[in-house]
Amino acid sequence: MPGSLEERCLDNGKSDAGTAGKEEKMRYLTFALAKGRLARKAMELFREIGITCEEMEDPDSRKLIFVNEELGYRFFLAKASDVPTYVEYGAADIGIVGKDTILEEGRNLYEVLDLGIGQCRMCVCGPKEASRYLHNHELIRVATKYPSIAKDYFYNKKHQTVEIIKLNGSIELAPLVGLSEVIVDIVETGSTLRENGLEVLEEICPLSARMVINQVSMKREQERIAGIIRQLRSRIS
Ligand code: PRP
Repeated sequence: MPGSLEERCLDNGKSDAGTAGKEEKMRYLTFALAKGRLARKAMELFREIGITCEEMEDPDSRKLIFVNEELGYRFFLAKASDVPTYVEYGAADIGIVGKDTILEEGRNLYEVLDLGIGQCRMCVCGPKEASRYLHNHELIRVATKYPSIAKDYFYNKKHQTVEIIKLNGSIELAPLVGLSEVIVDIVETGSTLRENGLEVLEEICPLSARMVINQVSMKREQERIAGIIRQLRSRIS
């Protein structure tokens, strides 16, 4: 067992005691994927460049880590907000996660590629009448699952003092029941807003799935990682 935390995190090599030192075996490249639709779409994209994992295709599997021994890849699914953490600490070399999560978590990692999947927008939304609060820079309450993004937008970009209220889901409820005047949330098709009499009042930024890389892995596995980025880039554009 290696000593330091960094060594423990990074020593996921395939070397075994008998051959260690004699023959350097290929180290696993570990991918952390935000579970759900993003992971499924990312694996479809990976398949196109020959990165596959049969184990992951079994819907009944309760496994947490999936391996492609032959190619030297490991995959695990994690809650989206945890993906940047796994990547920053080197428990995963590569992460696939939404730009919303990257902005919110503010971890130290390299964002190397826009995968062009899961496209949506981060917006300030609310009932139409609430637009005057934004226009007049009034002290309002803003409900959101993304307090860092909301704070950055209102304080640093709009220079508007607001009260941020952190929620964990169904954010559209907040203005409907009087918890907040507006929300900061993801808008994809816009149907949740429409069905609840709300609308986009201001757009903060476009979002999509990104590939992020651990800063040490970027150097240590430069060749393999650069190869993957190059192949994905040629598929995407
Ligand atoms: C997201 C987001 C909106 C909705 C937007 O919620 O928070 O509520 O999707 O999609 P639309 O524009 O296509 O209607 P999600 O379904 O992830 O669940 P949550 O409300 O629990 O966050």
